[in-house]
Amino acid sequence: MAVPDIAADGIILELDGLSVGYTDEPVVVDFSTAIRVGSVTTVIGPNGAGKSTLLRAVYGLTRHFAGSVRFLGQAIERLPPRERLKLGIGFVPQGRCNFPLMTVRENLELGAYTLRGAAAVTAAVEQTLAQFPLLASKLSVLAGNLSGGEQQILETAMVLEAGPRLLLLDEPSLGLSPANQDQIFATIAELRGRGLTILVVEQNAHGALQISDTGIVMELGRIFMAGPAAEVIADPRIKVAYLGGEGPTGARLLAPCGPGSRRGLPPWPPQPPRAGAG
Ligand SMILES: Nc1ncnc2c1ncn2[C@@H]1O[C@H](COP(=O)(O)OP(=O)(O)O)[C@@H](O)[C@H]1O
Ligand SMILES: [Mg+2]
Repeated sequence: MAVPDIAADGIILELDGLSVGYTDEPVVVDFSTAIRVGSVTTVIGPNGAGKSTLLRAVYGLTRHFAGSVRFLGQAIERLPPRERLKLGIGFVPQGRCNFPLMTVRENLELGAYTLRGAAAVTAAVEQTLAQFPLLASKLSVLAGNLSGGEQQILETAMVLEAGPRLLLLDEPSLGLSPANQDQIFATIAELRGRGLTILVVEQNAHGALQISDTGIVMELGRIFMAGPAAEVIADPRIKVAYLGGEGPTGARLLAPCGPGSRRGLPPWPPQPPRAGAG
């Protein structure tokens, strides 16, 4: 089936009642959202909320329990990742995913592997270098010797060579210096300016929401809150839990990050009292 160039209703990705996981119990439950062409959507939430699982589900890397994933109007929830890539979905997973012992040029050539023929690969690499001049100056550097921010941009560029319409980014600013984080957010804003649609999971809630159209807050595999990014930033509960603000009572209203956060319970197993304490 031919993919329409532009979805008639302006929606590029629609999740409807989606439940996905890995074993015999779904991790993400009854998740519904509609993402407009050319928008940036940021997903935030505590560790273990299911944010990465959500992105993996859109790319076809999870077990499907229920619901639908529609990309440009086509149901894709049964398609394998390579088919989704062909349709125009690109996924940059969490953590480093380049080939560290190969040069930047070799990584870019590998990123273009879905293209047929040496000429097409060369053209894709040249186009990428025009878009990311930073990489052009580092072509013979081993990818593993780039800074964290440069590696993240390299990995994003590798995925972009396949020509996706929708880009999925999992924690692109994790572990980067504040300056490198700003560079990543600037890159996302620039890609949006080129018409790309971006669905990003971020731990830097403020930085990501600032360049987003829509914010989604996930808790325990479900949507806790979704709306225009400006509204999510302004919500007192979100300010307290994610943006370093104080609530009316000074209390955290959402489960905090870290072990034990999944059901608001104390850490498990219980910690033995430290020697000499109490
Ligand atoms: N490969 C996997 N196999 C089984 N369970 C997993 C796997 N990956 C993640 N999980 C579980 O799914 C839940 C959500 O994880 P994840 O989507 O990585 O959360 P987040 O990205 O919000 O931190 C966690 O309880 C985690 O243990
Ligand atoms: Mg994650």
